[in-house]
Amino acid sequence: MTNGRFPENFLWGTATAAHQVEGGNHANDWWAWEQVAGHIKNDDRSDPACEHYDRFLSDFDLLRSLHQNAHRFSLEWSRIEPAPGEFSSTALAHYRDVLQALRERGMEPVVTLHHFTNPTWIAKSGGWEAPETAERFARFADRVTDELGDLSRFWITVNEPTVIAYQGYVRGEWPPGKRDLGAALRVLVTLLRGHWMAYERIKARHPQLQVGLAHHLRIFDPAGRFAPQDRAVAAAFGRVFNETILQSLRRGRLVFPLTRAGKASGPPRSQDFIGLNYYTRELVRFNVHYGAELFGERVLPAGAARSDLTWELYPDGLYRTLLALRRERLPIYVTENGIADGRDAMRPDFLLTHVAAMLQAIEAGAPVRGYFHWTCFDNFEWAEGYGAKFGLIACDPVTQERRPRPSAGLYAQICRLNRLPANVELPPVPQQPVEPAGPPDLR
Ligand code: FCB
Repeated sequence: MTNGRFPENFLWGTATAAHQVEGGNHANDWWAWEQVAGHIKNDDRSDPACEHYDRFLSDFDLLRSLHQNAHRFSLEWSRIEPAPGEFSSTALAHYRDVLQALRERGMEPVVTLHHFTNPTWIAKSGGWEAPETAERFARFADRVTDELGDLSRFWITVNEPTVIAYQGYVRGEWPPGKRDLGAALRVLVTLLRGHWMAYERIKARHPQLQVGLAHHLRIFDPAGRFAPQDRAVAAAFGRVFNETILQSLRRGRLVFPLTRAGKASGPPRSQDFIGLNYYTRELVRFNVHYGAELFGERVLPAGAARSDLTWELYPDGLYRTLLALRRERLPIYVTENGIADGRDAMRPDFLLTHVAAMLQAIEAGAPVRGYFHWTCFDNFEWAEGYGAKFGLIACDPVTQERRPRPSAGLYAQICRLNRLPANVELPPVPQQPVEPAGPPDLR
């Protein structure tokens, strides 16, 4: 493991999404989805989540005390534009306060405009299957950056277009719960058009803003290293999930298979940076019964370390992905990376190995400028509800008590030193759920 330093002014923070932390979001498609029994584990609901809408000041104090110098969060579209073309001055003033609070604490904001949720009126008019949603989203992006662009330099249009399409339109596990490959492709096209339009509008009025998109990239390796059919399906997964959007953006036009779902083009340049959300790798095995999923069955590697959600811990994947992204010739921000680990048993090692992989990638020429751990507080993890605990800080949705886990202290050291701590000692692995503790030792 290298002990090198990260580049100067490296951004170190955590990432959240409005619906997962704020509480009180009742005017979007996710809230409606949560009301139906069986959609969310334990029938959990996103209200109150972390009550972050009301607690953001003390939450940011805590993150600043953990030496984080940046923070990624999302705006809730349904609060800001509760009805078509009607913008809420109360919601805009709230997010101004949020941004100002970050600036006052010396934390660089990174703002996401769309992180999975859609206002009810958008969902009712066809969601991202309706071509007009691209234009409506661009109008929202335009208005918001006019109002708030003076307070944040970094803007992410859409979080993880492929995940939206896959979970909502292939697996049917997220709203609107469809299983329709054609619809999934149309949704991707509209999301891309929405990004292209938003990028052009924002840059026309505010050329100084840095605008990008958060890509969820996974490693897909063949289950049988030498099995030609496994290799073929793994390569197909890589092309469809990892390459389609990046290539379309690079070329300013749709690439296959999106070309089968519509016509669209964009400007030759439509990203000022790459946002990378990296979590895990998947092994893919050819299976004739998996026609709806490109004939690829995802399997877990035998004996691999796995998170509470059974995702493999695979730090090399971050290295491999960052190296591959060098060809984009754009600054890269790791906009999400984290692990569901309620006992904090694996997270310290996860943090160290992923941060080390990122450093190695930087040394190999990947222009990485920041890292945002997913996430600061345990929160409402979409269909997994509150059971999947991704927080550096435990957050009890009933008492709202925040309890930093040992890895919050470890991450604080990394943020403060701007490198991996020398001779780092891993905190003892907790065998029981962590008891309430005071703030972590930061020295
Ligand atoms: C990402 C999402 C984020 C969270 C993490 C665990 O795909 O962007 O909201 O759910 O996964």
